[in-house]
Amino acid sequence: MIYRDHFQNYKSYAIPKAQLIIADIPYNLGNNAYASNPAWYKDGDNSNGESALAGKSFFDTDEDFRPAEFMHFCSTMLKAEKKPLKVEGEARQKGDAPCMIIFCAFDQQMYLIELAKRYGLNNYINLVFRKNFSAQVLKANMKVVGNCEYGLILYRDRLPKFRNNGKMIFNCMDWPRDNDSEKIHPTQKPVELLKTLISIFTDEGDVVIDPCAGSGSTIVAAERLNRKGYGFEIKKEFYTKANQWIMEEKQVKIDIEKYGFDKSRMEKQSGMTLFS
Ligand SMILES: C[S@@+](CC[C@H](N)C(=O)[O-])C[C@H]1O[C@@H](n2cnc3c(N)ncnc32)[C@H](O)[C@@H]1O
Repeated sequence: MIYRDHFQNYKSYAIPKAQLIIADIPYNLGNNAYASNPAWYKDGDNSNGESALAGKSFFDTDEDFRPAEFMHFCSTMLKAEKKPLKVEGEARQKGDAPCMIIFCAFDQQMYLIELAKRYGLNNYINLVFRKNFSAQVLKANMKVVGNCEYGLILYRDRLPKFRNNGKMIFNCMDWPRDNDSEKIHPTQKPVELLKTLISIFTDEGDVVIDPCAGSGSTIVAAERLNRKGYGFEIKKEFYTKANQWIMEEKQVKIDIEKYGFDKSRMEKQSGMTLFS
């Protein structure tokens, strides 16, 4: 389910709390970078007037993304942590604490780690995603070029639910190319990567939320893994295509249950009606 709205308006929708929030926030934070942040005011008190940080950006662009409101949303919409039940004589139970994953620019990491702590997300694990290509083609034969994306796993106090099938999971992961999905968004994340992350931190039936959904890729990945995906997107053109993609995914499931194969997708690809 995707809503064409600001995630800040989440209270208007009856969205269940999430086991996992995945968000790819705008990398170019704007002049409202400290909005909703006490640092906007001298000594954090609005009666003292604005501080030197008011109206400033972290970086050199001017998008109106509000990281503090984003973090508030995440801390509110993540499920509460429960104490694992201790049963005498039995092995320690595995925890099911929730967590969030943010894709972010390299330079945003320390800021986001500190901001998260103010919202009770006290712990982090950094992630590096390794591409086998680089977008930095200019002077590529004269300098080292970047081929990595960065992210953070943020969680409160207990280690998040971890479904690793007994295997070690490294914090440096391969970034698979996504040649199968329609390109809807300029910073669209590969569905297979999102599926990997969702599989590690959730079980079937769990809720996954993407507050900045863009193409809807996170919700599609959640749908394919039988998780309940929810998201917000403010831009009409992204929302419309994302919603269409999510609806198609839902239809594939209905088709497979009904016909044993994805009838409507095959019809779309072939331009033929197979049967009615
Ligand atoms: C970096 S993109 C996300 C791309 C997405 N991960 C994908 O795979 O397609 C961030 C998106 O957040 C949206 N956005 C920015 N502020 C928002 C807000 N307050 N509420 C909802 N969406 C927002 C932007 O329109 C943009 O499409």
